[in-house]
Amino acid sequence: MVEAKAFDLTGRVAIVTGAASGIGRACAQVLAEAGARVVGADVTGGPSVARVDVSSAEQVEALVRDVHQEHGRLDIMCNNAGVMHDGSVLETTDEELDRVLAINFKGVFHGCRAAARVMTRQGHGTIVNTASSVIDTPAPGTACYASSKAAVVQLTKTLAIELAPQGIRVNAVAPGLVHTGITDRHFRRPDGSLDAEQRTRKLTEMAALVPLGRVGEPVEIAQAVWYLASDAAGFVTGQVLRANGGAAMP
Ligand SMILES: NC(=O)c1ccc[n+]([C@@H]2O[C@H](COP(=O)([O-])OP(=O)(O)OC[C@H]3O[C@@H](n4cnc5c(N)ncnc54)[C@H](O)[C@@H]3O)[C@@H](O)[C@H]2O)c1
Repeated sequence: MVEAKAFDLTGRVAIVTGAASGIGRACAQVLAEAGARVVGADVTGGPSVARVDVSSAEQVEALVRDVHQEHGRLDIMCNNAGVMHDGSVLETTDEELDRVLAINFKGVFHGCRAAARVMTRQGHGTIVNTASSVIDTPAPGTACYASSKAAVVQLTKTLAIELAPQGIRVNAVAPGLVHTGITDRHFRRPDGSLDAEQRTRKLTEMAALVPLGRVGEPVEIAQAVWYLASDAAGFVTGQVLRANGGAAMP
């Protein structure tokens, strides 16, 4: 195969969760530009995005079943949907803990399991999960979120071993700070409006801590996902691709 062709996704069918905004939307666009037929899913729904809550195993299974029935295959599953959480262990309520784990960890588990059922039957496929650079950088106030992402990494590695005999690859991308709706949330005033000045100041401060000197763009994470989802990563499984501007180098 000519090397560049290994990135071609023509004829592949992909699902991307959390596709209504940010990194997920960029993933859906990039995979589609690479030739895949992409079905986006998100709890909010939206234009060309199926309304699916990944914390519901039933909804995720129905999504995968519908896509398989309509397209006859599922080649790429991107379990990307996630929510942020800030708060020390002492401040975190049971409800917050349950919600973050239900979306960030169980949501990915549901997607992995539903996709793996189809992929093992069809004998091929690849899964890409979205973790986070917080897996490498413990910091006050991140226990709930970071633990959910660490669980995603362990799930990714374990499933990679379980599915390797069938040639199904499972990897994760660990984005550093990327400018999306999740990051904007920190800069909302009580009335919901965006404090753009504070956002610029804070993002500039945070960018200074990144060796590349800036925050990432959603498309830069999507391109890492594209690589992992493509035949170019044919010998890559159970790995975490850190797209973080050099912010963490474990
Ligand atoms: N932006 C960053 O700096 C950053 C860094 C590291 C990791 N991440 C991870 O990247 C992923 C995408 O985040 P983003 O930055 O694009 O944020 P975002 O808020 O722009 O996108 C997240 C999407 O997930 C959807 N979602 C939330 N709960 C859902 C549910 N229960 N079911 C289905 N969809 C749901 C949201 O509606 C939203 O469209 C998340 O897993 C996040 O943890 C983001």
